[in-house]
Amino acid sequence: MTPISQTTTAVTPLRPSAHFTAETSWLNDPNGLVHHDGLYHLFFQTNPFGSTWGNISWGHATSTDLVSWEEKPIAIPANEQEMAFSGSAVVDSRNTAGFAADGETALVAIYTSARPPVGEAPGLQTQSLAYSVDAGTTWTRYSGNPVLDIDSSEFRDPKVFWHGGDDGHWVMVVVEAVARKVLFYTSPNLIDWSFSSGFGPAHATGGVWECPDLFPLQVDSTGETRWVLVVSMNPGARAGGSGTQYFVGDFDGTTFVAERLSTSDDPDSYDWLDYGRDYYAAVSFNNTPDGRRLMIGWASNWDYANKTPTAPWRSAMSLVREISLTRTADGRCRLRQTPVLPVHADGVTVSEHLIPLDLGQRSTIVLDTDGVGHEHVRLHFERDEAGAHLIFEREDSGLTDFHSTFAAPNRVPIGTHLESPMNVQIVVDATIIEVFLGDGVQTVTEQVFPAAPLRSARTVRHA
Ligand code: FRU
Repeated sequence: MTPISQTTTAVTPLRPSAHFTAETSWLNDPNGLVHHDGLYHLFFQTNPFGSTWGNISWGHATSTDLVSWEEKPIAIPANEQEMAFSGSAVVDSRNTAGFAADGETALVAIYTSARPPVGEAPGLQTQSLAYSVDAGTTWTRYSGNPVLDIDSSEFRDPKVFWHGGDDGHWVMVVVEAVARKVLFYTSPNLIDWSFSSGFGPAHATGGVWECPDLFPLQVDSTGETRWVLVVSMNPGARAGGSGTQYFVGDFDGTTFVAERLSTSDDPDSYDWLDYGRDYYAAVSFNNTPDGRRLMIGWASNWDYANKTPTAPWRSAMSLVREISLTRTADGRCRLRQTPVLPVHADGVTVSEHLIPLDLGQRSTIVLDTDGVGHEHVRLHFERDEAGAHLIFEREDSGLTDFHSTFAAPNRVPIGTHLESPMNVQIVVDATIIEVFLGDGVQTVTEQVFPAAPLRSARTVRHA
């Protein structure tokens, strides 16, 4: 938990405009995503005193359009007793916890209290509450914290939501990180929690499990409801370092059952939320006005997050993505992700391409800078007997020497459910590239650190 210092002196002059960054500090996971009274709230893991991980507190930003964010004062600061690790926020409209007086509505944050180590013993991780009765402006820690303690130092990242109607209950989805388990708890009031079931280990288990999420979606073609369980994992994700997988299944308010569990140890037989190296800890909003399922991921990777060459800010969020479920031609239920795009945002470019995936043919999309030098990113699409691939090359994208693996290519298998020619949408915003393949049924998010903005997207074909 000691902050790691920056090893590089050069920094990119660029900062994304539509991807949220903290003005002068470090940022990791999105937390407490919730809509209330016309505002979207984005809380985030931050270090109020520096540009590397440490003193972990909940930062806060709000938006009306999901694209431009206004940073607010720290919501839940670290203190002598604990850091405030990741978690979620709910609107307690039934006042189940009793935090609201007459005429008030409480927003309640459920976060992990991460205690410092005691001698040789690792610090305890427990689940705690903080609440706001002024629409998220100021926050008070609940005096009865913690509300859930299983005497573990690897128990974190509670996602809480209401399940059912008036006679429903709160559900907490939380991980036992090292055991690679998601645990489900229920509560009538956010304060008293009962264990109901567990899920895992399953699929990718090469690293610790973190930041779970669970939500229902209707399958677009059939209207059937399926539940999606999202689990982040660090390290050992398919693109290296940290990454996020998901499971589609059913949830009855107490137990999650996956509809498909691969028995193979091939990571490409699992479902990944993103195939890039920079999409982690993704979670969705509670209480969206029109039932839209909106997610944000942290656009970095624990392999090098503390060393990326920016200052004084470090790390950005992804764009907000609207999530839907589709049954692809091979019969599998898959997530489709559509970015919420800025209408006008300086430096953001969006390009659309139609790429053939024919045997023996290679197509390359080149993202050039319009500044001096030869910095560029190449996306090669090719198909051989083994299948189609996207090779994401950021070797010549600008600053790369802050970490040994950053310049290596990422070879992404393109799913056989994607037809040729494949639609490819690319969003570039200073240091972040988000690629949406086949109308978003596969996505690839990566960071780059050029000296000048990447803009034009040229497509080159080789027979
Ligand atoms: C994921 C994570 C969480 C934890 C937080 C600490 O990136 O490790 O499990 O709550 O970051 O900042």
